[in-house]
Amino acid sequence: MSGPTNWARTRSLFPVTRELVYLNHAGVAPISTRAAEALARYAAEATRRGAFRYDAFYDSEIERVRGRAATLLGAKSEEIAFVKNTTEGLGFVAQGLDWRPGDRILGCDLEYPSNVYPWWALRERGVETTLLPGRDGRLPLEVVEAALADPSVRMLALSSVEFGSGARNDLAALGALCRERGVLFCVDGIQSLGVLPLDVGALGVDFLSADGHKWLCSVEGCGVFYCSAALQERLRPKVIGWRSVANNHDFDTYQTELQPSAVRYEEGTPNTGGIFALGAAIDLILELGVDAIAERVLGLTQRLVEGLQERGAHVVSPRGPEASGIVAFRWGEESIRRTVRRLADAKMCLAARRGSVRASPHFYNDEGEIDALLAALEA
Ligand SMILES: Cc1ncc(COP(=O)(O)O)c(C=O)c1O
Repeated sequence: MSGPTNWARTRSLFPVTRELVYLNHAGVAPISTRAAEALARYAAEATRRGAFRYDAFYDSEIERVRGRAATLLGAKSEEIAFVKNTTEGLGFVAQGLDWRPGDRILGCDLEYPSNVYPWWALRERGVETTLLPGRDGRLPLEVVEAALADPSVRMLALSSVEFGSGARNDLAALGALCRERGVLFCVDGIQSLGVLPLDVGALGVDFLSADGHKWLCSVEGCGVFYCSAALQERLRPKVIGWRSVANNHDFDTYQTELQPSAVRYEEGTPNTGGIFALGAAIDLILELGVDAIAERVLGLTQRLVEGLQERGAHVVSPRGPEASGIVAFRWGEESIRRTVRRLADAKMCLAARRGSVRASPHFYNDEGEIDALLAALEA
């Protein structure tokens, strides 16, 4: 798809459009025909030849997808490990760093539980987590700045976009603050990856984790974990297995030296089928271009916000630089569960989160679907 993107054409890659108005990419996204074909390719090989061509068929695709994921994140291949979900990658950071009693982690009380419990689990090692108070659906920069004055702070753990309000955190400014104070910066990137630009190097991100089943439109259970090359010696693998070691195809000699890359965090056989789907999903995102996707989605969310406001709905999500793919709103006095149920009856997929109805369109949705949603709300 070269030249200006023909968004209408992308709809044919998402057969879900024939049945539903799907506006829940911040929840679990449908997969594209490209991802489905990649899964079928994997299944056909596994069915016909098993592991007969393991290196040529499976290993080569795993390493290709690692490279594509690195491109998407602005990282190097060696900085990417495959994970089973976002939480696993955040857990790698929680369990792998050299914490000392009295260390403090900063988070936010608006975060999804994935980005809270791994840090809370460190309490037994004397590490405290402070959940800074969000305001208007976001974590104000000045609150972080004030909290960073505490010399016991070792890390800031935040998501790129708040899952409830849809407010985009200013990762560049936060990353710069962390860097100035020698504080690590760990990002839950799942609400950005595939829809908003995210360049870990430029943003000063040290660790990032994101599963593939939201904005990447891949399957559940296979995502990516980024650990900057500079920190791989410091972040010990939580589990060390056959795949973590330097010469990991030598099964005859036990070794202690770790892989000189983020593969050290992949302790055993990866989710190869999931990686096939993820690869096709990332290929599609890169083919369309993340900047173009962001522009397209922000255009759709802008149309939705204007339509909601014209109809007197309460829109929670911010616009401007804090806007994301998420529009959180409330429809008058109607309970959020009832609104979502009513829309489901009209074959529209949205979610109820943190006191709001959450709409999260992607690039293949169109203006007609946004208008249909507004009409269904009014019906
Ligand atoms: C911000 C955020 N992080 C993480 C997750 C999911 O985590 P995992 O991939 O571990 O299931 C979600 C899902 O809703 C989310 O919104």
